[in-house]
Amino acid sequence: MRKIIDLNDNWLFGKKLEGAAEAVTLPHTWNSLDGQDGGNDYYRGTCWYRRELSTEETAGERLFLEINGAAHTCEVFLNGEKLCCHEGGYSAFRVELTGKLKEKNMLEVSVSNEDSDRVYPQKADFTFYGGLYRDVKLISVPDKHFELLKDGTTGIKATPVVDLEKKTATVTVETWHNGESVDITVNGETKTVERTAEFVIENVHLWDGLDDPYLYTATARLDSGDEVSTRFGCRAFACDPEKGFFLNGRSYPLRGVSRHQDLKGKGNALSYEDHAADMAIIRELGANTLRLAHYQHAQEFYDLCDENGIVVWAEIPYITMHMPNGRENTLSQMRELITQCYNHPCIAVWGLSNEITAASAVNEDLLENHRLLNELCHRMDPTRLTTMADVFMLEIESPILEIPDINSYNLYFGWYLGELEQTDEFFDEYHAKYPDRVIGFSEYGADANPAFHSSCPEKGDYTEEYQALYHEHMLKMIEARPYLWATHVWNLFDFAADGRDEGGKHGENQKGLVTFDRALRKDAFYLYKAAWNKTEPFVHLCGKRYINRCEDRTEIKVYSNQPEVKLYVDGMLIGTQSGKTVFRFELPLLGEHLIRAEAEGCGDSMVIRHVSEPDESYIFNKAAASVTNWFDADEINPECFSINDTLGEIRSHPQAGAIVNQMMAKGASERGDVADAVKDNPALQRMMGRMTMLSLLKQGGADEESIRQLNRILQGIKK
Ligand code: GCU
Repeated sequence: MRKIIDLNDNWLFGKKLEGAAEAVTLPHTWNSLDGQDGGNDYYRGTCWYRRELSTEETAGERLFLEINGAAHTCEVFLNGEKLCCHEGGYSAFRVELTGKLKEKNMLEVSVSNEDSDRVYPQKADFTFYGGLYRDVKLISVPDKHFELLKDGTTGIKATPVVDLEKKTATVTVETWHNGESVDITVNGETKTVERTAEFVIENVHLWDGLDDPYLYTATARLDSGDEVSTRFGCRAFACDPEKGFFLNGRSYPLRGVSRHQDLKGKGNALSYEDHAADMAIIRELGANTLRLAHYQHAQEFYDLCDENGIVVWAEIPYITMHMPNGRENTLSQMRELITQCYNHPCIAVWGLSNEITAASAVNEDLLENHRLLNELCHRMDPTRLTTMADVFMLEIESPILEIPDINSYNLYFGWYLGELEQTDEFFDEYHAKYPDRVIGFSEYGADANPAFHSSCPEKGDYTEEYQALYHEHMLKMIEARPYLWATHVWNLFDFAADGRDEGGKHGENQKGLVTFDRALRKDAFYLYKAAWNKTEPFVHLCGKRYINRCEDRTEIKVYSNQPEVKLYVDGMLIGTQSGKTVFRFELPLLGEHLIRAEAEGCGDSMVIRHVSEPDESYIFNKAAASVTNWFDADEINPECFSINDTLGEIRSHPQAGAIVNQMMAKGASERGDVADAVKDNPALQRMMGRMTMLSLLKQGGADEESIRQLNRILQGIKK
């Protein structure tokens, strides 16, 4: 019989093998704190874990070590002998210990998250935590056993093909083992074969998304007693360029969010309970799809997606910057992703790359890397489509878009630059030009710090109100374009990007609908809950944290999935509205008021008050916030350049252009990757050229003095 034991306890950790003396329990990361506090200075290097193996633990005919996550490169030593090296921080791998065991056995594991020119990811907007951050196990099996080594295989693969007309599923179960024959059981039927068996399930119970994610189990057993099993789901996915995504023959627009696998204070060393808690939030939101960015996630999380009926975009971390020496690593990470995740019914597509042209030209090497990945996916898995997430400045005519089966774009108009409406224009232009191509919306979002508020929210102010307005626009845009096969908010949760230092937080990307610690759902979370959650009646009063309002009349916005909302002020009914998702009321603000919203069987309350002066604590960039009324018209000499001119106009003048280029290069180096992406991309440069210097400076969080300083310099240069 197979015996699997957890090997998470009793490890010693250190930056050097001889110094490995800190007692740790796995999952573990050494960047749980320095990877989330800003400064882009978290420890990236090689660290060591060591642990004695007891005789009980090493009993068994054949013994294998299983490591489920070692970021990014890992070497395993037993009693000083190197057994293997694994390059890829997000997949499982195993190594056989049999024949190497002695009386006493010391396991030593080195893990490295340092720079590399061939292991992805190397350049991206998230912290590359180092460590043995998922479970480590020992697996003992009889001499005749199912394959454990090749690409971390489960040894069993189930391929259900559904015939919706006949309501049947033909399930092919393949096994890999060193025995003579194998008994395979599906749905109560057992067949004895050499490797592969085919079963037909009549009147099949479909895996039907959120409504009914039914799971079957396939079990395989050898005469030796070794046994493996896998769950599988019978479903049919399809994508139509005009009508979008279909599940089991019905239109099923994929509307959801993205998720990174980290948590405030824990890094990426998550427990099953952490994963399950995230899934509960996803179910509350009502999302029917998840983009599990930007790498292979834990098996426990794909299992949760199977069990909850969430359709998943799975991907490898081929991201931001193409590395000529990295081709083999992209292929090995994709082989492991598909080998290890193939049986999950939740997975609909394999993502080849993310914004890979953000900091790399579309050259033949990059194109060939994508062709090879695309072919590998189709060879390993003819049942699923390939896709990729394209960066918003990638020209829609680029040849790279013809490689995957379907595409999606990451667009940030109305946040990083440009206006919200440019998102609508982009998709309308793309769909008109390529009506036969399937297109999706793989990322969109705006940062919000729940401490910041405004009655006049604007791009770049990091307020909850702007983030809500941004998503109200995007929700409408999406609902008007059913051809979008999938849309994924970036991101469901704030997450660690140690290179960031903005919006009043260090080391965090705050585009989340929920804070990094999961403690607070921002207003925008409830917008999507109102649009997508069909089971839990609720009303949500926006602006609970916007208590002190310096205005005589104020807007009260309510998100609800109910058709009618009543608003009470100090116990008095002041309005009833019928509508959908967003309900807006306006009322005089005379003092302190108890506000209550009610709908069928649900309600929400808050207290807000009139104040005579703006509450400064609500303003992130105080300088930029006031800059709009700094310069009265007569203060600026129109014959000279100023911060009111567009970047394009300023750059048209050699001297003025040189000054702003130098200033932006300095800003880019402080901001990290996204800024590099800006520098290397003509399309984005064109878009920025249409923005005023002032809006760019505010977007970049420039302080008052540097804005005044630049204006003084520009005013010295005649147009
Ligand atoms: C990109 C990228 C994300 C990043 C996001 C952002 O689209 O794919 O990884 O976090 O932009 O800038 O927030």
